[in-house]
Amino acid sequence: MDIRYRRPRGTRDVLLEEMERWRWCEERWREVLERYGFGEIRTPLIEPTDLFTRAVGSGTDIVDKEMYSFETKGGEQITLRPEATASVVRAYLENGLTRQPGTLKFYYLGPMFRYDRPQAGRYRQFHQVGVEAIGSPSPVLDAEVIRTALALFEAVDAEGLTVQVNTIGCPECRPGYVAELQAWARGRAEGFCETCRARLEINPLRLFDCKVESCRDLLGGMRPISEAVCGACRDHHAALRTSLAAMDVGATEDPSLVRGLDYYTRTTFEISARQDLRQSALCGGGRYDGLVEQCGGPPTPAVGFSLGVERTLRHLYPEEFDPQLSRQSPVDVYMACLGQPAMIHALAHAELLRGVCRVEVDTTGRGVKAQMKGAHARGARLVLIAGDDELAAGKFQMKDLNDGHQREVAGDGLLAAVREVLGS
Ligand code: HAM
Repeated sequence: MDIRYRRPRGTRDVLLEEMERWRWCEERWREVLERYGFGEIRTPLIEPTDLFTRAVGSGTDIVDKEMYSFETKGGEQITLRPEATASVVRAYLENGLTRQPGTLKFYYLGPMFRYDRPQAGRYRQFHQVGVEAIGSPSPVLDAEVIRTALALFEAVDAEGLTVQVNTIGCPECRPGYVAELQAWARGRAEGFCETCRARLEINPLRLFDCKVESCRDLLGGMRPISEAVCGACRDHHAALRTSLAAMDVGATEDPSLVRGLDYYTRTTFEISARQDLRQSALCGGGRYDGLVEQCGGPPTPAVGFSLGVERTLRHLYPEEFDPQLSRQSPVDVYMACLGQPAMIHALAHAELLRGVCRVEVDTTGRGVKAQMKGAHARGARLVLIAGDDELAAGKFQMKDLNDGHQREVAGDGLLAAVREVLGS
């Protein structure tokens, strides 16, 4: 076959059976999120480019290398969202929600776009389920948000996960540390990879993102930011640990966890799969107390996370998905039709039956044997056969695939007969 079009690199088609897994997870996640007090928000997939450049930060991989940005015919600079935190904050401000008292808790589920190097677990279009809790500075909320993330994993029976936490300070204490780090790294610039040499000039904290062994070894000689934060940040972190312990959440300190986005203050965290070190972060988040103000709002503390849906599903089902095994969605009643008039006769009755069960009308025009096979493949309990004779008499042959029993049913008694067998 000469297929003319292929999906863009780094994107996936989610088919039939795999789609069922997605829906199963999504249903459970919605339930959990609502139990934790989050309400759904949907923001556009496109936003002004400047929103991400400012919120996520220039000097980050996302902004410098990974954004799908373009100019519209009207001359607007637009970006396909690489993440949703900035969008939620934009929506919070634009819809006047700053006047609402208390903490506002949003959740979202949807596609994100990053022009990253595709590999297993890393895509250019991927999906996140995430939360943003806006309005409270309390470390207790940080702990509750981390607990929410774990509840999402528990809801889909994900096991073998670990929580890493860190503190990366605030505008009071971070600049001093960053200056110290920069001076220290400049003195050792030769030892760092090329990317890190650029990082140390533009955004020194990003040095901690580097995966190159020699850079990591070298950085081991510098005290981590968690040891340099101010007293208030230290207290915040201690209270976070106490709150996590109160909920029996075990978390390890990871001093190199600075996260790849610039808006974080104080708490950062990730949840990872222990076994699989490549693309092992299934979920990441943290506190971002400066972002609302940076986007033009009043000073407003906030905290959130996003969980990668594809990575979580790969963790749950590590075997490669084979679309050959895919099947169509199951039905209760399969209507096998011989000829177009019979199909129309069946279609009219299918409308009635669909009020109580799932119905497929076979319009392929293939032989009855092949249609019976189709009925088995779809898991149907009942087959209703309509040919010329049945059409003329306004009837159907009804076959129960459980016991093979077949009988004739009049059109006006069809609904009752089907309901009796299905118990619906
Ligand atoms: P992030 O760490 O960039 O954070 O992404 C969160 C999760 O999305 C990752 O842990 C990973 O599971 C998934 N993910 C990221 N990039 C890819 C990719 N290319 N392919 C597949 N999965 C990917 C954020 O996006 C922040 N907005 C999280 C947040 C919310 N912080 C505060 N609130």
